[in-house]
Order: sequence, then C-alpha cells, then structure tokens
Amino acid sequence: KRKREEAANEPQAPRDDADSNAKNASPSPNAPGEGSKSEEKVDSVPQPQESAPAPKSKLKPKSKPFSDNKTNFTSLREKANTLYELRKKLPIFGHADEIRKNLRDQDVMLLVGETGSGKSTQIPQFLVNEFWCRPQPAKICKEDGTTKSVTVGGCIAITQPRRVAAISLARRVAEEMGTPLGSSSPASKVGYSVRFDTSTSPSTRVKFLTEGMLLQEMLHDPWLTKYSAVVVDEVHERGINVDLVTGFLRNLVSGKREGRGGVPLKVVVMSATADMESLLGFFQEGFKGQPQLQNGTSDEESEAPTKDEASKDISVCHIKGRQFPVKTIYSPAPVHDFVDAALKIIFQIHYKEPMPGDILVFLTGQETVEALENLVNEYAVGMDPNLPRILVLPLFAALPQVAQQRVFAPAPPRTRKVILSTNIAETSVTVSGVRYVVDCGKAKVKQFRTRLGLDSLLVKPISKSAAIQRKGRAGREAAGQCFRLYTEKDYLSLDETNTPEILRCDLSQALLNMKARGVDDIVRFPFLTRPPREALEKALLQLLNINALEETGGISKVGMHIAKLPLTPTLGRVLLAASEHGTECLIDVIDIISCLSVETIFLNTTSEEKKEAAETARRDLYRREGDHLTMLSTVRAYAGENADRKAWAERHLVSHRAMQSVMDVRKQLRNQCRQSKLLPRDDRQDHHHDPSPVDILQSFLCGFATNTARLVPDGSYRTVVGNQTVAIHPSSVLFGKKLEAIMYNEFVFTNRTYARGVSAVQMDWVGEALAGQ
Ligand code: CDP
Repeated sequence: KRKREEAANEPQAPRDDADSNAKNASPSPNAPGEGSKSEEKVDSVPQPQESAPAPKSKLKPKSKPFSDNKTNFTSLREKANTLYELRKKLPIFGHADEIRKNLRDQDVMLLVGETGSGKSTQIPQFLVNEFWCRPQPAKICKEDGTTKSVTVGGCIAITQPRRVAAISLARRVAEEMGTPLGSSSPASKVGYSVRFDTSTSPSTRVKFLTEGMLLQEMLHDPWLTKYSAVVVDEVHERGINVDLVTGFLRNLVSGKREGRGGVPLKVVVMSATADMESLLGFFQEGFKGQPQLQNGTSDEESEAPTKDEASKDISVCHIKGRQFPVKTIYSPAPVHDFVDAALKIIFQIHYKEPMPGDILVFLTGQETVEALENLVNEYAVGMDPNLPRILVLPLFAALPQVAQQRVFAPAPPRTRKVILSTNIAETSVTVSGVRYVVDCGKAKVKQFRTRLGLDSLLVKPISKSAAIQRKGRAGREAAGQCFRLYTEKDYLSLDETNTPEILRCDLSQALLNMKARGVDDIVRFPFLTRPPREALEKALLQLLNINALEETGGISKVGMHIAKLPLTPTLGRVLLAASEHGTECLIDVIDIISCLSVETIFLNTTSEEKKEAAETARRDLYRREGDHLTMLSTVRAYAGENADRKAWAERHLVSHRAMQSVMDVRKQLRNQCRQSKLLPRDDRQDHHHDPSPVDILQSFLCGFATNTARLVPDGSYRTVVGNQTVAIHPSSVLFGKKLEAIMYNEFVFTNRTYARGVSAVQMDWVGEALAGQ
C-alpha cells in the first residue's frame, strides 16, 4: 500500500532518502520521539532549557530500531558535550526560551542577529524537540473527494544561499548534536542537500539545503509535507531564489493548510542586517488577505484579520551580537591593482603586526583568488624563517568540497592562515581565528544586460552594508583590524545596501520554477520586491524560445522536464536536445556542461610567455571545433588518466582543483539523468565512442541559438540577434580565428565585449535552431 501511495504521490520524482520520513503513513523504525537506543544516547547532550512537554505520540514503531555498528556514538557524544560549552556562550543562547515560546504561539518569526551570534546552528536545535516538530498523522483531501492518511512534518529545513554554507553548517550541527552526518549512517539526524550533492538518512530531522534545492523539493511536494518548519537563513543576501522561497512560504503559512491536513508550517526568517520592516509588512500582507484556519478546521465564516491583528501571527526577535572593536585602515589613494595591494598588506601584517590571528582577504572571484594564492605562496618561500609559517587557503563556490572544509580547520602550531575568499565569507560562513580583514571593496555580481538579453558577471563595488559585514569578520573573538583597499571617500560613496538579485538578473529560471509550481499569473505572485516588467517579459520570451512554455504561456512538457533538472533552463534544454541524439551524445554533453559549472578548467595562461607554453602543453586537448569539444577532450583525457591525475593536470596546465569539481558534477548529472530516465539505468561509467561534434554543437544550439554571431566583411563578428559587435575572448581556443559563425556561452565585458566558451557553427544550423523555436 505504501508503495502505491508513494507512486501516486510522485511517479517520476527523483527521491531523496529523507522522503521516507514524511511520506510513510507509518513512521520509520526510529521515528523521532520514539527514541531508539542509539538516539537516546546521542540525545543526551544537555538541552539549554526544557522544551514544552510533548504529547505522547500515538505512533508505535513496527520493527526494532536498526543498529549502526560502524558509528562510534560514544565519541560523537563526547565531542558534542565539549561543543556544548561553546554553544552556551553564543549570544543567541539566552534567547532559546523566548524563541521556542514565539513559535509555539505564532507560525512566523522574524529573527535579526549579527553574523556569528548562533542563528544558523542553534535555531534548529532549539526547535527540533518541540512537540509541534514531531511527525503528525493527518488526513488530506484528494482531488476525487476521498481522504488519505499521511504523516506531516518531523523535519526542519534551513535554507542557505550557498552550497558551502549548507554543507559546513550541517557538519557543525551534526557534531553539536552528537549525530553522524548525512547518509553516513541510517541513524543520522542531520543532513544536507545542495545541487549535485544530497546527503540525508531516513532519520534526518534537520536538513540544511540551498534555496534552489528547496524550490526543487517544492516541485515534487508543494505543501512541504515532510517539514514542520522552514528556516530561511541569510535573507539579507536577497538572491533571486530567496525571493521565490519567501513568496511560496507566505502562501503556505497564511491560512492555506489543506494540503498539510491542517498541520501548520512554522516559518523562521533570519537576517544579519536589521532591515526587517519590509519582511514584516510582507508577511502581514499575506495574513491579511487570507481567511484564518484554526487547527486545520476550515472556518469559512471568520473574517480576514486587520493589519493590527495580523501582527499576532508574526513575532520578531532581535539578538544582540558580540563584537569587539575593529580598527579601519583606508588606502590613502585609489588602488588600481587590488591583488598586488592585498599581497603587500598580507606581508605587512605578517611582518609587523605582533598580535596573532588569521587574515581573511575578500576578493572578487576564483581568478583573483588563485592569482593571489600563487603570489603569496611564491613570496612566502623567501620569508624570514623565524616568522610563523603562512598557510594559504582559497575559498570560492566552485572549490571542491574537501578543499572548502580545510578553511574551517584550526591552523597548525606556529602557522598563520591566510584565507582568500570571495564574498562567501561575508556572512555565509564563520571562520574562527580571524583578526585581520583585507577588503578589496569589490564583488562579482550577476547582472542582466537588457540590451543583450543575458546575464553576465560584472565586477562591481560592494555596498556599505557588505563592507560593514566584511569588517565585522575581524572582531568576532577579539579586537581586530580591517584594511580597506579603497579610500574613505570611496567608502562613503557606496550604495547603502545590495540590490536584490531579482532586480538585476535573468528571471527565466525563476519564472520556469513558478510556472512548474502552477503559478499562472506571475504578476500576482507575492514578490518581496517586484521585478521590472521588461525583465519578466524577456524571461517569458526566452522560455518560449527554448519551447519550455506553450504559446498560451502555460508550461510545456519540455519545460516541466527542464524545471526538474538542476540546471539553468538553457542548459536543461541542451541536455534534453542531446538525449534526443542518443546516449553517446548525452554523455558527451554532460561532460561539457560539467565543465561549465566551474569558472575555467585551464590554469590562467593569458600572459604572452605562458601562452606559448600552454599551446604546447595542451596541444593534444585543443579541438578546432572550439571550446566545447576542447572541454570534452580534456574531461575524457583526465577521466582516463588512472595513474596520477594531479601530475597529468600539471603537465597540461589544467586546473586539477577545477577538474575535481567537474568530476563531482559529472557524476551527479549522470545520476540525475539516470533517475529521470534520460540515461539507461545500467549505463557504463566509461564511454569510448568517437564524439560527434555536429550532434553536440546542434544540441547546444537548441539552448543557445540566440548566443550566436556571424562574421561580417570587415572581419569582426556581429551577433545574429541584435547585430552587436563581439570578439572571441583571448582564453578561447578559437581566439583570432575567422569562422563563418560562432556560438558562445556568455559575454564578458572588459575594455570590449567578448564572447567566452566559443565554438564554430554553421549559419544554416543557427537558422534551423532559430526556426525550431
Ligand atoms: O548564523 P550565525 O551567523 O548567527 O551564526 P552560526 O553560523 O550559527 O555560528 C555560530 C558559531 O558556531 C560561530 O561563531 C562558530 O564559532 C561556530 N561555527 C563553526 O565553528 N563552524 C561552522 N561551520 C558554523 C559555525
């Protein structure tokens, strides 16, 4: 029966393990609250204050709790007990009772607390033992009018804007709770889910996941049946996904509980900056518009509450942070090369500043991080041997997980950590030991270029609020110093806050997600900030172009398929097109798409002397068809290298680090394609067929037909749509080549407009692809 129910629920959905927590009508053997032996042990970490007494669950375990012989629960418990002493000192700890009470009384809580005050790690632990957080039996109405018994809740979701934060928080909270992490043990209570990597167990109760993954889950389970609470963290970052998440959640909390059998969903929205006014108004508006349902019983007669009454549904909690003084040192004059300036400051601190403490440097992206990493390592070789050693640790989104986690480990004795980070370390992650911050004042941001109709990454000055966050990272544990690589005048001219992403980005993915969730009237969707009409129209057009929408504006079969893939709509379209050319083409396109998930797979060799060396080292990899086929040949050669991949990468001036990420993504994408039946289940890992460049490039054209340019008589390229001048980027294997037409993945703006990720195509293919749209 259970199988039938699940099949009825989600016939095609790729399931993650934690689903069984919610979808089973009967609880899993060690359902929370029933306390298997191992759970009693791991739960013995003292709780800050007693939770409200839980009503005795009527659910009885059907079978014996399973045993987990591999996990050493005693050592986990000991570690948790040690960490408990640290947890008690966090600013949020004294607020535990207030927070629990707020959420017993109200369904929505807004929580403001500075970075490091303990929001992300403690909130789930404060709530997980609350009575409302247990799985509850409920009856829901099916479309045919009959009712179905389900289990609602039992799990807490905590969303994060970034993968790295989701994983590192899950690891930390698992340690604090004394439970194994993710899928490592069936008894693990803490898991995570990020794009291309989900690690949960049947016992997961606390799950850290990226906003994008929650949106994906909502496609399969619009009522978020398995969750008792959703905690939206880092809302101040205002990525586009958080705006969608808050919009959907507002509809779920404000009275609409039928799909949850009347069981409420609790929502906590957390921010490191104080601007909660707009959020409060936003959720109040939701309650205002909805008839209230009490305890799941529909009360059609009740009036919608007035604005004043509405605030009884929402509580607000402020946590005062712990901040030591941080001295700001501005650059006396504008800085032209911030990598060079940062290098000087790092060694100045290391030589001159007596106080210990690690250095955290904020840079713009992987390229600047790696450039500075090389420079610091080079200079450190000739350093005074009496000084402590320097350990350089890069931190950026595309870094493989293992390397990211090294940042959090304490420095070895007589060693100073120098962490070179993108804005990931601004609020998303807490690295302890930092006393010096070096801030370049810039960040790479996604920006929609309306004229060109696509997103590009631009390096832009940060906002004042971001600069303050960066500075704050130096004063968490003791007094610190912040070196700003810009003048005080420049600081004063910065914007106050970051512009929400929804106002500056391509909206096609967001829109497709909404359409897949059945939101037909986009204009009436509760946006935290309403995006410009022009951007919405552009996104609709783009989705129509790739056949993701029907002419009527509804989602098409293709669109539904794409929405369930962890890719942008354009890349999703490419993947589907490739699958139509057959398994071999799909396998090759997966390899190429995996490369597109990192900034670049090659080491930076743009300087003249390095260029020649690169040409020679990569001769076997370069393909005359262009960058896509070159990526494919590189992945194949790297994957086929069984002896020493690192040495192979060095020989070919390929980034071993990037390739590790590519291999991770490749594995996940292949899995995903097997789950969605695009690849056969028994597909072999190694494929030795000859690639078919025409099939591959034509598949890419299905998504990128508008990213094409043709050669004009003066020898330059003009975009097929829009007739703009564009040049092939120097990093491309086709740089300087004159070809009939080119297709590219993205634009880069420096002193001129460049196309990056370029392949040679024929104009009649472009014509066909455009006609097919
Ligand atoms: O969410 P918020 O920034 O308020 O704080 P948090 O992420 O809960 O971090 C609270 C404390 O937990 C930090 O100050 C760190 O000492 C510790 N922590 C850690 O050691 N490793 C992590 N991955 C996350 C937090």
